[in-house]
Amino acid sequence: MCGIVGYVGPRPSQDILLAGLARLEYRGYDSAGIAVIDENGSLGMRKKAGKLAMLRDSLTDAALADGTTGIGHTRWATHGGPTDVNAHPHLADDDKLAVIHNGIIENFAALRDELAAEGVSFRSETDTEVAAALLGREYAKSGDLQQAFRNVVNRLEGAFTLLAMHQDQPGLVVGARRNSPLVIGLGDGENFLGSDVAAFVEHTRKALAIGQDQIVAITPSEVTVTDFDGVVVEAQPFDVSWDAAAAEKGGWSSFMAKEVAEQPEAVANTIRGRIQDGQVVIPELDGLDDLLIGINRVIITACGTASYAALVGKYAVEQWARVPVDVELAHEFRYRDPVIGDDTLVVSISQSGETMDTLMAVKYARERGARTLSICNTQGATIPRESDAVVYTHAGPEVAVASTKAFSAQITALLLLGLHMGRVRGTASDAAADVAELQALPEKVAQVLAEENDHVAQLAGWMADTRSVLFLGRHVGYPIALEGALKLKEISYIHAEGFAAGELKHGPIALIEPGQPVFVLVPSPRHSALIHSKVVSNIQEIRARGARVIVVAEEGDAAVLPYADEVIRIPLAGALFEPVLAVVPLQIFAMALATAKGLDVDQPRNLAKSVTVE
Ligand code: M6R
Repeated sequence: MCGIVGYVGPRPSQDILLAGLARLEYRGYDSAGIAVIDENGSLGMRKKAGKLAMLRDSLTDAALADGTTGIGHTRWATHGGPTDVNAHPHLADDDKLAVIHNGIIENFAALRDELAAEGVSFRSETDTEVAAALLGREYAKSGDLQQAFRNVVNRLEGAFTLLAMHQDQPGLVVGARRNSPLVIGLGDGENFLGSDVAAFVEHTRKALAIGQDQIVAITPSEVTVTDFDGVVVEAQPFDVSWDAAAAEKGGWSSFMAKEVAEQPEAVANTIRGRIQDGQVVIPELDGLDDLLIGINRVIITACGTASYAALVGKYAVEQWARVPVDVELAHEFRYRDPVIGDDTLVVSISQSGETMDTLMAVKYARERGARTLSICNTQGATIPRESDAVVYTHAGPEVAVASTKAFSAQITALLLLGLHMGRVRGTASDAAADVAELQALPEKVAQVLAEENDHVAQLAGWMADTRSVLFLGRHVGYPIALEGALKLKEISYIHAEGFAAGELKHGPIALIEPGQPVFVLVPSPRHSALIHSKVVSNIQEIRARGARVIVVAEEGDAAVLPYADEVIRIPLAGALFEPVLAVVPLQIFAMALATAKGLDVDQPRNLAKSVTVE
């Protein structure tokens, strides 16, 4: 939820920290701050409520002395509102020590009481300041930051990434992680810490992943990783597969616009290297055939947009692999007593690989004996590390809070998984046709973007005053209806709901009044005349009640024309491949409508890209 960056090296750190924070701002943007140990060995700090720009302005108005050791933070508030005082860093030990934090310290109230009883007073409402005060107390005992830091993290409960530095030990930044992300960037005579590689990718693409409950100490020349007891452990090196330019807006009006446009490439990159001799073969699943044959059940778990991809995955895996699939919201999964065991494959889907709800679901599944596979877009992330196997989507960095290219890549990965499992289990029948559909997808996504972008954007412009929009779909169109509604809510703050079209008559049809805009995702009649005719009937039912109907239908489907106020066309595709195409106009619609309302599509209110609290 929060973004964290740390630097030690020969260069002045403020610009490095601010640039890192700019790349991490997607993680939280209600306040930001930096602390720097200056050339005279004094710790200076500045923090401001609001977006990073407020901090920059403040630093321009009144400079902070620069230095070569620093930490920076961009916040998504948990304890205490988004104010200057609650922003990070938090200071202790007579302001000689600075701490930044991502996550929630669950036992902070008890720790605060303990410190208050010793006479410590607090300036903020945050759990982080409690950790800072605790570190101050421990440092006073030993004068050794690493020792004091170990003592502190061993007392903390909950999920946290914590970074600290002390002015009496310049050239040293310490960090720790438990169920919250932290990666190390390895430079030449300088080293970095970040919530993810975006924090330092413009300086180095060499990184180390830190495991759970581990501590790192960086100096300009050394990186030491230990467990919480101080025993040295080996961190896993990896190379960042994208460069800084991939995380830049590059002339686009927003990251979201760029990421929507990047979908043909994202889908193509996810497929690349996973088709061999006309069949889908996912190399990462090599050696797992017995497992994939032996399982009797699949549970796909995820949150938000990723959970809608999961719903599409259910259709694909059941159809091709002939194994029952349930989709579970990750935050519900472990709070009941699900029937899982070693014959269950739990597939988690997460763009960030850090979503706490999903991570906890994966851990719970493992504890219960299930095998786990993650579909993830972020190298070095926690969820893949906690899973038995990982299938990466190669969508590239997704910065806008509203997920777009990651979603199409997730569906693509699930299509690949279904076909891979179908091949292994001997249940998929027409590999050649399905592979041809897969290979044609990027081109077809590009076609939707080229042919419908202006039309849909114009439609959104006309509807900028709309107060509510409904989305209907059947079969794989249903998850796309849910996703269309989520996109619109998320960035345009308009009430939107997605429904299974057949469910309408069981209640939601009461919402239809004259002029109510309703998007209807119409499946191809070539796949099922029955499903198609049912959806056309649903359109007639809402039209009869005055709805303004916007249809998304395949080229040439004339049956919808008499009942549609607007028709958005997508190219012909196999039934299970249609969602990747049908979602594109809904993304464009949400983005254009939010833009017409003058909203920031990349950083919608109250949200953060990566939800690392439960
Ligand atoms: O990083 P994840 O895929 O695990 O994130 C899951 C959801 O938080 C995420 O998809 C969220 O719903 C998006 N903001 C939707 O656009």
